[in-house]
Amino acid sequence: MTNPRIAHPAYAAKVMDADAAASLIGPGDTVGMSGFTGAGYPKAVPQALARHIEAAHAAGDPFAIRVWTGASTGPELDGALARAKGVDFRLPYNSDPYAREQINAGTMQYIDMHLSQVAPMAWQGFLGPLDVALVEVSAILPDGTVVPSSSVGNNKTWLDLASRVILEVNSWQSPALDGMHDIYYGTALPPDRVPIPLLRPSDRIGQPGFRIDPAKVVAVVATDTPDRNAPFKAPDAAAHAIAAHLMEFLAHEVKLGRLPRSLLPIQSGVGNIANAVLHGLQDSAFEPMTAYTEVLQDGMLELLTSGKMAMASATAFSLSPDAAHQLNTDMARYRDRIVLRPQEISNHPEVIRRLGCLAMNGMIEADLYGNVNSTHLMGSRIQNGIGGSGDFARNAYISMFMAPSTAKGGKISTIVPQVSHVDHIDQDVQVIVTDQGLADLRGLPPKARAEVVIANCVHPAYRDQLADYYARALRDSYGKQTPTLLREALSWHERFVETGSMLNS
Ligand code: COA
Repeated sequence: MTNPRIAHPAYAAKVMDADAAASLIGPGDTVGMSGFTGAGYPKAVPQALARHIEAAHAAGDPFAIRVWTGASTGPELDGALARAKGVDFRLPYNSDPYAREQINAGTMQYIDMHLSQVAPMAWQGFLGPLDVALVEVSAILPDGTVVPSSSVGNNKTWLDLASRVILEVNSWQSPALDGMHDIYYGTALPPDRVPIPLLRPSDRIGQPGFRIDPAKVVAVVATDTPDRNAPFKAPDAAAHAIAAHLMEFLAHEVKLGRLPRSLLPIQSGVGNIANAVLHGLQDSAFEPMTAYTEVLQDGMLELLTSGKMAMASATAFSLSPDAAHQLNTDMARYRDRIVLRPQEISNHPEVIRRLGCLAMNGMIEADLYGNVNSTHLMGSRIQNGIGGSGDFARNAYISMFMAPSTAKGGKISTIVPQVSHVDHIDQDVQVIVTDQGLADLRGLPPKARAEVVIANCVHPAYRDQLADYYARALRDSYGKQTPTLLREALSWHERFVETGSMLNS
């Protein structure tokens, strides 16, 4: 029976099952896969490949591949391949627990990269050759147009660069996705790079589908499987408090005339707190808002549904199963108000700077001076990765980072004397928000930053401890520009690793 989603004869002739397609991927291959925050990743071929890898290992044969993606994927990709011990190199972002375990055990090599830089670096040749592109799409039209899926990520680049292409055509994805994407083919390497002609979040500068050389397509696999996003945690008291502090801050900026009532294009990061802040915007007076962001979460879908947000530009959906179902059944209603772009454009520093995005991202910890760690626990264990937070933070109109003031039931303070790993230097961090309050660091020199961070953001259980550290640093530090006690700056982390708590006593 012919599949109406595979409507072009050159592609229909390549249809095969997932096992046959997976057998076209061999040990040592570098595979560029689709997938971004649990959306639009291939679901059948990676699982078949994991079975092939397990069979090879059982026969005593080594078999591992190198995996490049857009960002995080789902259990059928990262989970299945990691459990099969089939990945020895991964980039640029991961949130799968099995892969994370192997990365932190040192058995999987991992490059945690700015998401806007992955495609240019692949083109520059720094990452090595790409053997296979394994990309989920939602349809192949009779004229050969390949309609992208629920994420765009780096797919354009993988399809252009790879020697062989395997497509998964997923009928679960709404047919109304056709027309929602904007695939820009105007990027180039220096000295031929030109300005990205995008002046408003709603601008369309590319084409709706991918350009693929059909001669490179070695397999087409039909699937009918949902994206597997995890549900968000219901916002707790800390998340509500963070959202309230941010709403008050934004309202104040509007009152002072530093932001319009519709705000500026919003960028909201991954995670539960970021989603809770979007819920907070629902009850705000700001409208009509726009978003120029990386992922479109439940909270943003609600803003689009209520009309508080006029349109959103992203590279992927990052929705709970319920919200994904709602969007999928009602996609046509949103088609003119959502644009999905390649991540090198959704996260492009030039565009973010031009539009003046309001960047709101989660963090692991911040220090007295406003340096932020988004990625590593206790300086060495990676949680997920920097994702797009650096693309946005450095170039945003206002760069905001947020976290509850404590983690692990109060055993960890998220405001510390010195961050144990630096993702965002103090110059790129303008506002820090915890459930305790908000520190507006704009225009402040280091010592004034420390004072406002201690006064506004630290949990009461840690406030005296941090104030005491800072007072001694002011007195005894080698230099007085950014007072630091070298022996003590990371002692809170050391204490947690040794005793299970950062508290002094
Ligand atoms: N020390 C140790 N562990 C910490 C910690 C700290 N200072 N802060 C948080 N954690 C732990 C939490 O306890 C939790 O652990 P668990 O999964 O075992 O319960 C985990 O880190 C996640 O924290 P959570 O409070 O659930 O936060 P979140 O879902 O809001 O995510 C980040 C926070 C920082 C992990 C997430 O925002 C992220 O990955 N950011 C980097 C990428 C990014 O910003 N992308 C967006 C760009 S568009």
